Amino acid sequence: MSDKAQRICDYEGSTYRTDFWEGQGRNYEDLVERQVLRQLLPAQGKRLLEIGAGFGRITEEYGNYEHVVLLDYSFSQLQYARERLGDDGYTYVAADAYQLPFKAGVFDGATMIRVIHHFENVPKVLSGIRHVLANEACFILEHANKRNLKALLRHRIGKQAWNPNTLDSVEFVELNFNFHPDYIERELKTAEFEMQERIPVSFFRLGLLKRTIPVGVLVGLDTMLQKTGWLIAPSIFTKNQAIGSGADNLIVESDDIFACPQTGGELHREGNHFINATGTRWEIRDGIYDFKDPV
Ligand SMILES: C[S@@+](CC[C@H](N)C(=O)[O-])C[C@H]1O[C@@H](n2cnc3c(N)ncnc32)[C@H](O)[C@@H]1O
Repeated sequence: MSDKAQRICDYEGSTYRTDFWEGQGRNYEDLVERQVLRQLLPAQGKRLLEIGAGFGRITEEYGNYEHVVLLDYSFSQLQYARERLGDDGYTYVAADAYQLPFKAGVFDGATMIRVIHHFENVPKVLSGIRHVLANEACFILEHANKRNLKALLRHRIGKQAWNPNTLDSVEFVELNFNFHPDYIERELKTAEFEMQERIPVSFFRLGLLKRTIPVGVLVGLDTMLQKTGWLIAPSIFTKNQAIGSGADNLIVESDDIFACPQTGGELHREGNHFINATGTRWEIRDGIYDFKDPV
């Protein structure tokens, strides 16, 4: 756990890819998330920021965008992603999502899937994302749902003290939060996003069902339940548009998108380094723009 102003759930060196996804019986969750993303993503776009991209599990879904910037706090997760996806059409940025190293308005799209549950300061992270998005940009946010069916039932029969119907977040494991859909909606609005769609996803996250029912059938049933809009699934996808007083579309050349993560000020480039007004330097190493720690 890193000790910065906000606590960070640090995946550096973690085996998330092999411990959680590959061969771990989560094909259904993976497929259903991809299916919803395809439904929500705009038909085309210039530059998309994937926040908390991890090892790039779902990055290939963003092919409608000309360029994708994968951002993650974990350098090693980005190394996995780069090994698999290469450099064509992709830029890799190691940075803290609370301190995005970009100029205002340089993205016309952003996604954050399975990530916001690690943030204790939701308003701060959402306003930072809004800042780097152009007006009218699309932001797809997935969040873990506090008000899921299991939590509602457990609370009803007295097996769970916390109330799934209240707007406060639940930290069920250190730096793992479940959020109420209305809380997320309120915070998106405060950060100047207008919610356009909200889809409950992944209704059948039960080992027995996943082992006995073919994955295609589960995905089909999930798609049907998504249409009901019942916000009792463990995962909620939202599609939002950047509104309000942000920057107009500033979709500049790829090397021009960066700004100082500490102040938002100008950076200049010298070889493999970016340098701010006070001489602090950040390095590009192994093909990854490393804005986590200055060199
Ligand atoms: C559960 S993984 C999800 C990865 C990917 N989005 C996916 O769905 O497979 C959460 C990711 O969020 C990243 N993360 C957590 N806190 C972060 C922060 N403050 N800034 C940037 N990334 C962060 C972690 O490094 C990790 O890769």
